[in-house]
Amino acid sequence: MTDQITPVSVNPGDARCPGPSTRDIILGDSTPTPSPLLTESYTFEGDSDIPYEEFTSPAYAQAEHEHMWGRTWQWACREEHIPEPGDYYVYDVGDRSAVIVRGPDGLIKAFHNACLHRGTQLKPPATTGFSTKLRCPFHGWTWDLDGALVDLPCEWDFPHVDADEFALPQIRTGLWGGFVFVNFDDCAPELVAGPLEEYLGVLPEHFQDWNLGDRYVEVHIRKKLPANWKASAEAFLEAYHILETHSQSVMTAGDANAQYDVFGDHVTRFIHTIATTSPHVPAEKRPDEQAMLQMLMARKNAGDDVPEIPTGERARDVYARHMQSVLGKAYDNDFSHLSVAETIDSIEYHLFPNAFFFPGLQIPLCYRFRPDGPDPDKCIYEVLYLRPKPQSGKVPEPAEPFDLDVNDSYTTVPGLPTSLGQVLDQDTTNLAAQTRGFKSSKKRGQTLGNYQEVRARHLQDMVRRYIADGRTHQQKETTA
Ligand code: FES
Ligand SMILES: [Fe+2]
Repeated sequence: MTDQITPVSVNPGDARCPGPSTRDIILGDSTPTPSPLLTESYTFEGDSDIPYEEFTSPAYAQAEHEHMWGRTWQWACREEHIPEPGDYYVYDVGDRSAVIVRGPDGLIKAFHNACLHRGTQLKPPATTGFSTKLRCPFHGWTWDLDGALVDLPCEWDFPHVDADEFALPQIRTGLWGGFVFVNFDDCAPELVAGPLEEYLGVLPEHFQDWNLGDRYVEVHIRKKLPANWKASAEAFLEAYHILETHSQSVMTAGDANAQYDVFGDHVTRFIHTIATTSPHVPAEKRPDEQAMLQMLMARKNAGDDVPEIPTGERARDVYARHMQSVLGKAYDNDFSHLSVAETIDSIEYHLFPNAFFFPGLQIPLCYRFRPDGPDPDKCIYEVLYLRPKPQSGKVPEPAEPFDLDVNDSYTTVPGLPTSLGQVLDQDTTNLAAQTRGFKSSKKRGQTLGNYQEVRARHLQDMVRRYIADGRTHQQKETTA
């Protein structure tokens, strides 16, 4: 199959897969396409190898912790995880830990999760709950939800403790799309990460009609992966692996003709079309439109009648209307205003360093990757299904996280479609082999495709840039 693809190169990064592009396909849809999906933004970012050391070295992981994780905006939780005053949620990354609370005034604040007496964490890692005060479990020093020190047992012994100076240190927070973001950095002006609004780049504009704040968490999975967090994220930044890893999809999904975009420092995107056939599949094996519709509907809704595709339309158009109706009934909504692409395609935005948002209807995913302790070969991968809130207004509570250990299969997760469980198992199985190969390889770096893997390159470049900026800043501070 692969010999179908013989790109002709002009300048590095200019070559594209022969056949219809994502843009061509979307422009042929029976519905008008929202303008963000017609935007293209690619520039060649180089073709040098990415050293394996950046994935395997404990010293590099330590530099990431120091200079990158401590200075970037990360989604900590959803607003609905802490709906009432007194609700809290603990977000941990590396050694850093934040307690995010909703105060009596309804506003959200975040605090460093460590007591100012002898350092004990105020709340255990990865917990959520309700408390009107933040009380240390060791000796009982207590802060209110604004961070004011309100109780100090045996105060007579601490005449040197001034309550104003012992307010609990806050962490910067920001809200977007129903997510609460935190940034552990106190905001040195020359560093890359400014306010959240700036950091988000094109996201607010692109997501104007895809408000993720109007969704709820239907499924939440946390899985331990035996792999570096960047290598794991990379596995979800390209559709290049579909042919080999998810070969069951090639008849009904685009891959080599996916579109890749880099929007400034922190945001990248891919779009790959559904209800189209991979350009890898030779002409004599490609299903016609009616056969493709049959395959898609048999997979999703066995037993439904497969309608005739009207003249002038394609499987995509009919399948999108079908899914709008199926999902409209399932989620008490009217989705008929959505375009074909918004309804069925795989549209994935990545926000540096570790968050992924899919605004589409049929694939409404969010991911995040975080190092799991100091070992660069371990990470935690979270998957959320974000469904539209029902019109009835009765919004389900956010799903409790379902934990999977390294060898547990996604197909055991209640509420997750089996087909998606299988895809995620395929994705994560590759990662252990890649981690071993990083170490056993004679060649010392990964060689990326100029176009299809530009998002992986961009991610690595940004990490490197944060580390370099952080070191420069540190040097300035020590010489000042
Ligand atoms: S360590 Fe927190 S009160 Fe003593
Ligand atoms: Fe995949």
